Amino acid sequence: MSCCDCKGKKPNLILDFPDKTEKLNAFIDALDIGLDRDRNRGFLIECLHEAQNLFGYLPRSVQQFVADKLRLHLSEVYGVISFYSYFTDKPVGKYKISVCTGTACFVRGAEAILDEFKRLLVIEMGETTPDEKFSLGTLRCVGACSLAPVVMVNEKVYGKVTTKIVAEIISECK
Ligand code: FES
Repeated sequence: MSCCDCKGKKPNLILDFPDKTEKLNAFIDALDIGLDRDRNRGFLIECLHEAQNLFGYLPRSVQQFVADKLRLHLSEVYGVISFYSYFTDKPVGKYKISVCTGTACFVRGAEAILDEFKRLLVIEMGETTPDEKFSLGTLRCVGACSLAPVVMVNEKVYGKVTTKIVAEIISECK
């Protein structure tokens, strides 16, 4: 049974995915971790990168695992995750849709495009669809202002996007 079927119970990725947990454990064990917490702290970002690569995101169970291995407080681990936008403690969809809201894109209708994605995907900014297929977010200028308004889907850039082609972008991902 998938953890999502457990009503009200938060997923524990460490228990639910023992193979990934074992890989993370081996990765951390291969580092020069010792009793010195200050020194161990220097490995934290490296460990979080690996953990996010393996699990896709960093929920509390994974944060706690890393904290225990490095002998750090959970709050220290959480502090790093919330500081760096690269890290996320929420599931990310297979397709990460980012609407550029930099100045050039904004004046050319980025907000309406964002609204259309919200409407069609039935999610808000920063959310992921229940099937974990799409995540919706914004980003600042990607350096393609002549193509404004711009939308990125994972690494792919869509330029001169209109509300009319939002549905096409979504269906291209299906
Ligand atoms: S403002 Fe959107 S690409 Fe520059």
